[in-house]
Amino acid sequence: MFVNAAEMLQKAKEGHYAVGQFNINNLEWTKAALLAAEEAKSPIILGVSMGAGKYMTGYKTVAAMVKAMIEALNITVPVALHLDHGDYDACYSCIEAGFTSIMFDGSHLPFEENLAKTKELVAVSHKLGLSIEAEVGSIGGEEDGVVGMGECADPNECKTIADLGVDMLAAGIGNIHGVYPENWAGLSFETLDAIQQLTGALPLVLHGGTGIPDEMIKKAITLGVSKINVNTDCQLVFAEATREYIEAGKDQKGKGFDPRKLLAPGTEAIKAKVIEKMELFGSVGKA
Ligand code: 13P
Repeated sequence: MFVNAAEMLQKAKEGHYAVGQFNINNLEWTKAALLAAEEAKSPIILGVSMGAGKYMTGYKTVAAMVKAMIEALNITVPVALHLDHGDYDACYSCIEAGFTSIMFDGSHLPFEENLAKTKELVAVSHKLGLSIEAEVGSIGGEEDGVVGMGECADPNECKTIADLGVDMLAAGIGNIHGVYPENWAGLSFETLDAIQQLTGALPLVLHGGTGIPDEMIKKAITLGVSKINVNTDCQLVFAEATREYIEAGKDQKGKGFDPRKLLAPGTEAIKAKVIEKMELFGSVGKA
């Protein structure tokens, strides 16, 4: 089922669990994530960063691949295709390409500009049936060349953006993309609590899902987080499984160099990681 992310996230917020956004990088990633969701009977959001979109030769290719794969694999669970950290132009490109959901990341812009552009994109997305995520307060670390300092969001700014009618809100609470540094201070639950008090029923998004201890994830869900983004974790297990295959010399035995064999352990590793995260987030059986 190819849907936008609004309904699945409202259900998650009401049911006190979170839906995972798993970023995709290629055909294997997409297949692994979709098969994991179907096996776990969980809704899923496929995230596409601007860099990954470019790598996959454009948003149209991605949308066509995802739609065809849902049909070919008989995927019955709700699947949303979501632009991750999009700029203004990327949002319009994804709307045109047939994505069901977009994130406009105006967090690095002056707040008034973020507000104005988010407002415009909310109107356009809703008119066309897409869901939309906004961001206040940057997520730390680097993703596809976008570097954030990781400051905590201002809860009042969150409320102002929430009132525009966005379907989900990413608010910085000390979270960082990629692997967390040794001296990381942890999530600011105080900030999250203050944001949730002001934004009420709005599903909140936790970026930088890789490396956050399970207990913190669970606590964040109790404080209104209904969508959790995971990217690096899948990349790490894919690389590790592929390395093991090559180090064991399996690519040199028989037809072990065939990409369908070479990439299989990494693909299986992604699938297992996605299911593990769905169990942690509580979305298993919620499709
Ligand atoms: P990680 O790479 O840290 O899992 O973060 C993913 C993310 O937040 C995508 O927006």
